[in-house]
Amino acid sequence: TQKKAIPHLITLADLSQSQIYNLLRSAIQHKYNAKYAGKGSGEPLKGKTLALTFSKRSTRTRVATESATAYLGGTPMFLGSQDIQLGVNESLLDTAKVISSMADGIMARVGPHSDIEVLAKYSSVPIINALSDKYHPTQILADLMTMHEVFGPHSDTDSEYISHLHHPKDFLPGLKVAWIGDGNNMLHSMLVTFPKLGIHFSAATPKNYQPDADVVEIAKKEAKNSGSELSFTTAPKEAVKDADIIVTDTWISMGQESEKLQRLKDFAGFQVTMSLAEQGGAKPDWKFMHCLPRKSEEVDDEVFYSPRSVVFEEAENRKWTILAVIDALLVKKSFD
Ligand code: CP
Ligand code: NVA
Repeated sequence: TQKKAIPHLITLADLSQSQIYNLLRSAIQHKYNAKYAGKGSGEPLKGKTLALTFSKRSTRTRVATESATAYLGGTPMFLGSQDIQLGVNESLLDTAKVISSMADGIMARVGPHSDIEVLAKYSSVPIINALSDKYHPTQILADLMTMHEVFGPHSDTDSEYISHLHHPKDFLPGLKVAWIGDGNNMLHSMLVTFPKLGIHFSAATPKNYQPDADVVEIAKKEAKNSGSELSFTTAPKEAVKDADIIVTDTWISMGQESEKLQRLKDFAGFQVTMSLAEQGGAKPDWKFMHCLPRKSEEVDDEVFYSPRSVVFEEAENRKWTILAVIDALLVKKSFD
């Protein structure tokens, strides 16, 4: 008899449109229950442990995961690279076997993407990618949830958080997102997700900072299927034309610190500002997103702290979307 495959979340490229929508619906419902209806979760993870093996720093992903696990009745166990043998002094293969023999799930932040694939191959429990140098899938779920809240039906008062009654599929397709920045893990994650959902997407990256070719191929295929418009440019003004959302990220990702000076030069002209949006012709009510942490070189204070900026809503939604992922993988044991 064949063993049933363990479900993991390595990249949203592996999930169907309806599986992504299921996660968003679940996140919206959990947020409503916990935050507005004051309901507990029923503690389905009582007695279970989620290990967080993080080889890089984290504020949002760590706090979101630990607080979501606690809400579900489980125990989060944070294991930083200073604390355990994480690819240093012991192979990842052995680490995966050992941790998965005792914990019920592993949320892993890694350097090279191949590390998360090794963990998924040898772990006997679900693996969630908490960021690799190629993909950051849980961040994109929070971005989609925030886009649904901002562009879907909503109320101005917290107690009337009603968007849980509506389906994100009615509001997300047709929006246009413009990426202004590096061809990094965030851009890759958007490329494998937004075109699949019928969201129009344009990306401006400097020369020599383009996204990986295999990821662009996936995006093109998905765009063809869904009818979403997809474009690439090196001119930020071109990309923001008709954008509902302008999004960027740091120019210097974790692990690239030694390239800082060169990158600051190469990204000249890529700062998100009000005048870039105006001159490029973004939609009148465009909004700004950023996964954080943020530096002022990629977006100035005027945009970052303006009412257009939904970065702190986006950060909070990390909790509700990660909660939905944990619920799917550790409780329901399926994305369907
Ligand atoms: N956006 C994000 O992943 O933030 P952290 O690195 O703080 O977890
Ligand atoms: N691109 C950034 C994202 C941080 C959440 C990095 O990898 O450091």
